[in-house]
Amino acid sequence: MVMKMNYSSQNEKSHTIRVRVPGTSANCGPGFDCIGLACTIYNDLQLTLLREPKLIIETTGEGANNIPTDDRNIVWRSIRTLLERVDAADIFKGAIIHMENHIPLSRGLGSSAAAIVAGIKAANAILDNPLNRTELLKLATDIEGHPDNVAPALFGGMTVSVVSKGQVQTFSFVPKLRLKLVVAVPDFPLSTRMARQVLPKEIPMKDAIFNIGRASMLIGALIKGKERFLQNAFEDALHQPYRAELIPGMQDVFDAAKNAGALGVAMSGAGPCLIAFTSEKSRVEHEVASSMAQAFLNHDVRTKSLILALDIRGAVVLNGDYRED
Ligand code: HSE
Repeated sequence: MVMKMNYSSQNEKSHTIRVRVPGTSANCGPGFDCIGLACTIYNDLQLTLLREPKLIIETTGEGANNIPTDDRNIVWRSIRTLLERVDAADIFKGAIIHMENHIPLSRGLGSSAAAIVAGIKAANAILDNPLNRTELLKLATDIEGHPDNVAPALFGGMTVSVVSKGQVQTFSFVPKLRLKLVVAVPDFPLSTRMARQVLPKEIPMKDAIFNIGRASMLIGALIKGKERFLQNAFEDALHQPYRAELIPGMQDVFDAAKNAGALGVAMSGAGPCLIAFTSEKSRVEHEVASSMAQAFLNHDVRTKSLILALDIRGAVVLNGDYRED
């Protein structure tokens, strides 16, 4: 239930704010649509809410030439959804949006979740936080359709999310084991819609059991810092086998990462990025990155390598003037 706020008092205030939102990797192997993590690659948004119905959208960096600059823009659509949710859509009818993007687009690193979270986090902060973090999570999940990217984008860390009776509950934690995240970013995009279309509507009981065990093992081992229990914990039977046809050489890249010392490897979200998890103390991340790149190249796929860590803050307001909720 959102209380009706009096936004007319905002006349005197600046309506500009900057937020920074991390990229995310969903699923982490067995946690399809439930598990995700935030990583140290970011998009920045500077938002000015306008009373007049004017829309200016500028994007620099990733996707600068492909992102719509009109009503279809996902940042703007998310802002509008928040304004409607808090009864402020009649007051603020336009915006100046400047995005500085580092998260690759349509690659499985949560660029759309980052856009949604940036928009609602910034608009909410300008309005003095009428929605709390749980309400923002619910709104972001409604817009995205599933919580596994928006939850870590909002909260940071590794997250487990459950949707029950329309409500979203997220548990965010920082693994005891310090991880490096080695991401191979292919030079082709893959839409989440297409990657979901190849999935079956029903799955065999044995595949459900396969994933329940591994997802539970993954979370338990990471919380306790038990590296040896991660050996099989990133495996999946629910989505990766069906999506493999969309990513040439996927299994070879998985094998290459493991042979180079990765603890585990998975598709990042709906792909096409593949993400390997290494322990920080093993210092094998560069070797894992080049092995993955070479394995992809053997299948004529060129990649960029990213070596990232876990982001533990999630979306943050960068201006000092606004309180964080
Ligand atoms: N869980 C989602 C999927 C993440 O794998 O389709 C991508 O949005």
